[in-house]
Amino acid sequence: MLPKEEWTRTRVGLGRDSRPFDWDATFGRAARRVVDLGCGNGRYLIHSGLLRRELDHLGIELVPPALRLGSLRAGQRGLTNVKFAWGDANEFICERAVPASIDEVHLYHPQPYYEESKLDRRQLTPRTLLAIWRALRPDGVFVFQTDNPAYMSYARRCVSMLFAWGERFDPWPDAPEGRTLREMNARAQGLTIFRSESRRLEIDEARAVELAGGMGEPSFDANKPGFESRGPRRAPRGGRSKRHRPR
Ligand SMILES: C[S@@+](CC[C@H](N)C(=O)[O-])C[C@H]1O[C@@H](n2cnc3c(N)ncnc32)[C@H](O)[C@@H]1O
Repeated sequence: MLPKEEWTRTRVGLGRDSRPFDWDATFGRAARRVVDLGCGNGRYLIHSGLLRRELDHLGIELVPPALRLGSLRAGQRGLTNVKFAWGDANEFICERAVPASIDEVHLYHPQPYYEESKLDRRQLTPRTLLAIWRALRPDGVFVFQTDNPAYMSYARRCVSMLFAWGERFDPWPDAPEGRTLREMNARAQGLTIFRSESRRLEIDEARAVELAGGMGEPSFDANKPGFESRGPRRAPRGGRSKRHRPR
């Protein structure tokens, strides 16, 4: 950790009205761009930002405490190429990402959601996949990782329509112990980690729209043992969880 006077400010706002996100103004330079959709505590972004100073990294996260932790840790390392924004990553990629403007999109361990009532919160959908495909530059890369086998089956089928699907079975060489906190926790529980790194296919927009139209929504059963995902809805114990706003 650096002395406090060398810490950097790493929190940024996305702005109002779903306007396009201005990377160059935010980072003060024009560089290759990496975005992490649902970055949690920012472990991957900080690690990548330290290793790849020439790339700009943006993390989008809905839960303020996780975001604050990531932002603080990046700032304490004096990073200027890693920023964190509170917001809906789906909205970011669908509404704020300029076509062909990003080099890498990462999505690590999106929540599978088990309750029927929450299936519409799943992050990987035909709409977001098409938006990721659009936002990426030619040759851009989409990294998807999960410890949920049903989520991976859905990803395998859908991502491979718009991307040259690449699956890897070993830990990432840059982070053998795990790229993200969820990866490390899942491995500690003995869960299999499914990793993919897929390159954008060069197809035309109309074809991409048509392919996305045939994917089907992510209505798969995430199959948590002992969890009745298709049964009648029950109120969660302790009441509904609050949607947080950042401070
Ligand atoms: C299981 S955690 C994984 C966090 C991190 N990617 C990791 O692998 O450790 C899923 C994260 O996605 C965030 N999330 C879920 N939906 C989101 C959305 N629409 N926009 C931004 N973040 C979202 C959650 O708040 C949570 O931090």
